[in-house]
Amino acid sequence: MSRIPVIIDCDPGHDDAIALLMALASPRLDVRAVTVVAGNQTLEKTLNNALKVLSFVGAEVEVAAGAAQPLVRPLTIAPEVHGESGLDGPILPPPTLKPSPRSAVEVIIDVVRKSDQKITLIPTGPLTNVAAALLLAPDIKANIERITLMGGAAYVGNWTPSAEFNILVDPEAAHIVFSSGVPITMVGLDVTHKALVYEEDIARLKAMNRRVARMVAELLDFFSQFHKRFGFKGSPLHDPLAVAAVIEPQVLTTRHLPVVIETKGEYTTGRTVVDFYGVTGMKPNVDVALEVDRDRFIAMLFEAMEHFD
Ligand code: BDR
Ligand code: CA
Repeated sequence: MSRIPVIIDCDPGHDDAIALLMALASPRLDVRAVTVVAGNQTLEKTLNNALKVLSFVGAEVEVAAGAAQPLVRPLTIAPEVHGESGLDGPILPPPTLKPSPRSAVEVIIDVVRKSDQKITLIPTGPLTNVAAALLLAPDIKANIERITLMGGAAYVGNWTPSAEFNILVDPEAAHIVFSSGVPITMVGLDVTHKALVYEEDIARLKAMNRRVARMVAELLDFFSQFHKRFGFKGSPLHDPLAVAAVIEPQVLTTRHLPVVIETKGEYTTGRTVVDFYGVTGMKPNVDVALEVDRDRFIAMLFEAMEHFD
């Protein structure tokens, strides 16, 4: 079976970092490029984090810096969750990998245009880079297989009662992506809040006695602190679930539904408005993930860790 060519657009970020590792470890995926956006931290920090994580595992992939701020709004960052560096916890050596001289948008456009097979985009941060690429080069839509993104929530938000962080940071970009006509799978909080990694899983990662598994455990030790404060029994592995959904779509149960982005709400900006009952008459445009096989997903995480020494 041929491998699925993907571009990961991310803002590392603890869960973004683990998503990158799962993608690199998978024999099903061919990571053609990693593009970086501001979100969990400033662009300078998310870029450095991506380079550090990829260097740590010796990955040889083009890494390109993208937008330093959302399309029209000031940037919101999440140091409460990811720390001052955006990747607090493990001490990683300085990166050996250098950033590409090309911008994220150039890389997305060029890689998609030149690919002999349709590309799957996996955005795990705000959608600024992806939206800019679609606006500048609408022709690339024809060569995108699907956008499987971590973001949104059919029900409850996390950064506001209505909105999930990635969509809230750049709702205008999300609107461009969700209305693009490209097939979309929305891996939102409805499933990522069920994709929990528990203390005993972190202990098992440590017991593997592998360098990369230990680093991931250290990431999760830090990431867990925030979630414990909010009463979570484990940490939601948001971004890795989007990668898992490309490797094994059966890990999710989805419904094809109309989804629009609220960009002008008083309390609800950034909400992914999902029309479950077809009351708007809009055409379904998104496969909304509603259930997850959590045990299979966690097994996939451990399989990925076995791949690295
Ligand atoms: C999303 O926001 C970020 O903090 C995480 O990396 C994830 O992509 C969850 O709302
Ligand atoms: Ca992210």
